[in-house]
Amino acid sequence: MTTPPAPSGPTGAHLRRGVFRLGERVQLTDARGRLSTITLTEDGAFHTHRGYLRHDLLVGAPEGTVVQNTSGVEYLALRPLLADHVLSMPRGAAVVYPKDAGQVVAMADIYPGARVLEAGVGSGALTMSLLRAVGDEGAVHSVERREDFAAIARGNVEGFFGGPHPAWTLSVGDLADVAPAAHGRGEVDRVVLDMLAPWENIDAVAGVLAPGGVLIAYVATTTQLSRTAEDLRSDGRFTEPEAWESMVRGWHLEGLAVRPQHRMVGHTGFLLTTRRLADGVEAPLRKRRPAKGSYPVTPDGRPGDDGGEDELWTAEGLGERLPSDKHVRRARRAVGQPPADA
Ligand SMILES: C[S@@+](CC[C@H](N)C(=O)[O-])C[C@H]1O[C@@H](n2cnc3c(N)ncnc32)[C@H](O)[C@@H]1O
Repeated sequence: MTTPPAPSGPTGAHLRRGVFRLGERVQLTDARGRLSTITLTEDGAFHTHRGYLRHDLLVGAPEGTVVQNTSGVEYLALRPLLADHVLSMPRGAAVVYPKDAGQVVAMADIYPGARVLEAGVGSGALTMSLLRAVGDEGAVHSVERREDFAAIARGNVEGFFGGPHPAWTLSVGDLADVAPAAHGRGEVDRVVLDMLAPWENIDAVAGVLAPGGVLIAYVATTTQLSRTAEDLRSDGRFTEPEAWESMVRGWHLEGLAVRPQHRMVGHTGFLLTTRRLADGVEAPLRKRRPAKGSYPVTPDGRPGDDGGEDELWTAEGLGERLPSDKHVRRARRAVGQPPADA
């Protein structure tokens, strides 16, 4: 079968339409609902213990095709959706799940053409939703302090979009250093934080976020949520923070047995939004002081000298599981990124 010509242009819809082409990822589902993702190559084959499937059966075929391997095993072939890619891609850090990524895009009002600053990048899951929302004409600047996580994110993002995304810049460094060096005052429309200690970056964020601009923070624990909210209030340059969580419960749909599924993801994280006030303005809203003893504060309610308390705010202290160095090296190899010392 002749290979259809590769489409041109950056990341648009043309890449997600039409027949399967060489170099594309295809998600195969077998009769038991098991998923496998393959990348179509010339002369390639997908091997299992029950025969193999030749890639050329798929090249030039429409999405939704059913193909058979050499043993007659049938597979339904579809392009993976962004949510499929996120849940199956190699990970360094934990990813933001699609249900939360959708909330971030909607509630932080990430619009086509927006200039978005994001940190940290982790495995790049949320980055992909942000890039989708700003489009090729927008700008997402993603900052990650770990070089190895940034490399995994680059592999995942470029693997999904089929190459470098025209709206994406990735910097390795700490947000507090990178933000003021890369952006002028009020140059950023939206800031998205997914990190252990977002409160450490409030000053850097306030320096670059435009008046009216939205800051959204994703945190895993109530303690992080509380400290972020209290420090935003104390800072005074933001509106009253709002916080929520979302729970998604899948449904079992079979004949008369239509009911919620027995299992669900019970907890992912909390989201908090706030907006940058214009300089010199005080919001006409009641400010509550942080509860006494919630964390160290000076007598006027500002974050105080913590006398070593910051040592409590570690990944271990917050119950986050960090991947081993070996796991990170393997994920890096899996997305085709060279080792750090190469
Ligand atoms: C949970 S992960 C982010 C996951 C990501 N949102 C995703 O969906 O794949 C948190 C990341 O923030 C990074 N990080 C923490 N503090 C940072 C800072 N101040 N500046 C830049 N990156 C930071 C960590 O190295 C880690 O990779």
